[in-house]
Amino acid sequence: MAERAKPLTPEELEEQREYARKIRELTDRPHTYHIITYGCQMNAHDSEILAGMLGSMGLQEAERDEADLVIFNTCCVRDNAERRALGNVTWLNEIKKKRPSMKIGVCGCMIQEPGMAEKIMKQYRFVDLAFGTADLYRFPQILTEALNSSSTVIETGSPHRILEGLPVSRSRRESAYVSIMQGCDNFCTYCIVPYVRGRERSRNASEILEEIRHLQEDGVMEIMLLGQNVNSYRSQDGVTFPELLSMVDRTGIRRIRFMTSHPKDLLPELMEVMAGARHVLPQFHLPVQSGSNEILRRMNRQYTRETYLERVEQLRRAIPGIGLTTDMMVAFPGETESQFQETLSLTDEVGFDSAFTFVYSPRVGTAAARMENQIPPEEASRRIQALIALQERRQQEVMQRFLGTEEEVLVEGMSRRSHQQISGRGTHGLSVTFPGRAEQIGTICRVRITGVRNNTLVGRQTENEGAVS
Ligand code: SAH
Ligand code: SF4
Ligand code: F3S
Repeated sequence: MAERAKPLTPEELEEQREYARKIRELTDRPHTYHIITYGCQMNAHDSEILAGMLGSMGLQEAERDEADLVIFNTCCVRDNAERRALGNVTWLNEIKKKRPSMKIGVCGCMIQEPGMAEKIMKQYRFVDLAFGTADLYRFPQILTEALNSSSTVIETGSPHRILEGLPVSRSRRESAYVSIMQGCDNFCTYCIVPYVRGRERSRNASEILEEIRHLQEDGVMEIMLLGQNVNSYRSQDGVTFPELLSMVDRTGIRRIRFMTSHPKDLLPELMEVMAGARHVLPQFHLPVQSGSNEILRRMNRQYTRETYLERVEQLRRAIPGIGLTTDMMVAFPGETESQFQETLSLTDEVGFDSAFTFVYSPRVGTAAARMENQIPPEEASRRIQALIALQERRQQEVMQRFLGTEEEVLVEGMSRRSHQQISGRGTHGLSVTFPGRAEQIGTICRVRITGVRNNTLVGRQTENEGAVS
């Protein structure tokens, strides 16, 4: 068995703090930074850690084209995510040509891919520093090296660690990410995440709870517990995810969300905890990927259509009205028309509140990329369009159940459509828009739902609770 991942030690943290202090004292250092983040919430949270470290080095945030240091925190889950990041890196070089003092950094999952470091060295020589997800905590040291070097500094291949004790600069005031576990051991055959994020490792419950208490003191109203598969959370002293969730509930933090859950290890204990909890929101993201047992088997998902549907049933029984969302994929290698139809029929049967739908994208090094019968792009495109059309129709239907009900909405910002409207997320996970003012951002409002517009609920405020007692 591979050696267990270790948390960062106080000495290692101190060493990095020392690098950060030294950078802060330099006069000819970068003074401003800008981070561009791609991919999932784990990456968004990593960017908050990067921002925290940059703050400790004395750098301030600035607009992209004006910043002294621009960092791309990349994703490689699908080919288009990777191409977009690399395209923007190339584009930024045009700005750097006009302002050669600008430093460009590239980090995140893509750098962790085999062969990517060499590609950066050869084709992206203007990049000043590149480092993978496992080297994130060593960023102050890597930046120090890059400031002293005229060629690209590339750091990959360190063992993945349990990240603990790093500074975090939160991007949102009222809502915060809390990472509970990192990495993934599932090896779904299409997925690159286990290769670029390393083996599963869970933080200790006591440290997670401590972090949440600090966030509470800071006025944070909502936390999102993060992990590639939160159901596999197991601390070194044996705390499981349902146990952790129940402890987090007892901290009294106003709203608790979590993602992502793998259907294969969604156990009744978790549903019981959710049903009895006071602060865990009635919403669940449960990626199904496909409605065909044969495709699920070849994806190595380790559940069947029937068990998935059964879990959905159980969830709906335990938490009536629960908001249910999913991820789905079409055109997995060898997917036949009738297997695709099974995904459509599952979509129809479940009635998800929303779904992220993807065309399968081959990732080098994964088992599915070596499978025969890759589906031609035109056919994949027809399938995704059919799936999106069905999901949009079903979504409109299932969202009607909220008409006339009241949602507690955590206001996130102004509506994109109108200056007299604000929008946020309701308890069931859906976005809700209603008339309001900028001062209400960051507060929780009670809203009566009066309509459904595309993927948004619309309504009117019944009472503003303002800050939580
Ligand atoms: N850990 C999470 C999801 C991680 S990636 C989980 O297991 O649910 C988010 C979504 O991207 C996946 O649910 C899947 O639908 C999609 N995805 C992952 N690899 C993909 C690939 N190679 N091609 C297309 N979509 C992919
Ligand atoms: Fe990828 Fe599967 Fe792990 Fe999710 S559970 S990150 S889809 S390997
Ligand atoms: Fe992308 Fe990495 Fe997340 S590959 S989806 S940013 S874990």
